[in-house]
Amino acid sequence: MTPVNTEFAKLPGSYLFSTVAKKVAAYTAEHPDAEIIRLGIGDVTQPLVPAVIKALHSAVDEMGAAETFRGYAPDLGYPFLREAIAKNDFKQRGCDISPDEIFVSDGAKSDSADIQELFGRYAVIAVCDPVYPVYVDSNVMAGRCGEYDKETQKWSRVVYMPCTEENNFVPMIPAERHDVIYLCSPNNPTGTAMKKADLQRFVDHANETGAVILFDAAYEAYITEPDVPHSIYECEGAKTCAIELRSFSKNAGFTGLRLGYTVVPKELERGGLSLHDMWARRHGTKFNGAPYIVQRAGEAVYSAEGKAELKEQLSYYQNNAKTIRDGLVSAGFTVYGGVSSPYLWLKTPNNLNSWEFFDLLLDKARIVGTPGSGFGPHGEGYFRLTAFGTHENTVKAMERVNSLGLSHFMA
Ligand code: MLT
Repeated sequence: MTPVNTEFAKLPGSYLFSTVAKKVAAYTAEHPDAEIIRLGIGDVTQPLVPAVIKALHSAVDEMGAAETFRGYAPDLGYPFLREAIAKNDFKQRGCDISPDEIFVSDGAKSDSADIQELFGRYAVIAVCDPVYPVYVDSNVMAGRCGEYDKETQKWSRVVYMPCTEENNFVPMIPAERHDVIYLCSPNNPTGTAMKKADLQRFVDHANETGAVILFDAAYEAYITEPDVPHSIYECEGAKTCAIELRSFSKNAGFTGLRLGYTVVPKELERGGLSLHDMWARRHGTKFNGAPYIVQRAGEAVYSAEGKAELKEQLSYYQNNAKTIRDGLVSAGFTVYGGVSSPYLWLKTPNNLNSWEFFDLLLDKARIVGTPGSGFGPHGEGYFRLTAFGTHENTVKAMERVNSLGLSHFMA
């Protein structure tokens, strides 16, 4: 018998968003006329902006002419994109990140799943609870999480940092031993964002203990509060302890185009090894570069035209977040997030569990959201809605919730 990776057998049967999609498909099959509004997975609905489309067209034309055709992209990314990223996302924010510390990829989901390959099998990971499931699932696949306890819904070798109403959803540094700390701010799923002082505490701690922080900043474009850092490198000392993951999905609508990047500073070393060189080696071996046309589209995000158009698109989604927040509050829900984030985190009424509320909201208001418990045990009793729907649907969803009234979602 061929030995297989039996760690996969420990995972839930399907990925959270696949489970949601299956449930919705079953509901639609039973109720073919139901007009369903999807505010579940954080997938964008607005088209790519004209500057990006123009760059794509022109790159496609280049690919059709012998003189300008490109084959394999440089595995770490084209210099034109790495330079644009370094200048716009970091230098202009006062962060000293050079283009060769930036590794272009096909998106933050794969990077956040793959980055754990840098760490030893017995590294202990610390995650927020609730948490984006990719961080934990990818470590489970690598055999790093031990056993799953159904009762507590916890993995035996994972350290949890509960993010609750009591601590304003800000993780505390855990007392137990840990080697790798996943942080996501603005946070998926709670929609709350870490202030600079809170993040600096983690950076200082990681430098003192030798832990490494994996900082997911996929939602940084949504930050509206002044004391919330857009990058971990705004914190002093972060270059010796932190890796940052970024995406073009939520700030530029690239969910279907696929582009992201990871920053691994050259100063970051553990056990006498450079994590920068390790990631370069890993990227070079396992990745053949994001497509040229997509990297040109990414470059257009930083053009004057692209920036102006994307500012407008961002406002569109931010306005949706406000619409949801106001709509839920006026219906009597307790709601968090949505200020520096496209995610809203609401407390289910009447202590319903997250999946019970999912069924009620789908059945009564025909709205799809994401059950908080799918993100971890402390997500139980919560529910996530996204601001990435169309404005018309977002308004309609809130009208449905308000016309039904809170009592309809109690049992
Ligand atoms: C989410 O809904 O949490 C995200 O869109 C999923 C992702 O980015 O992979």
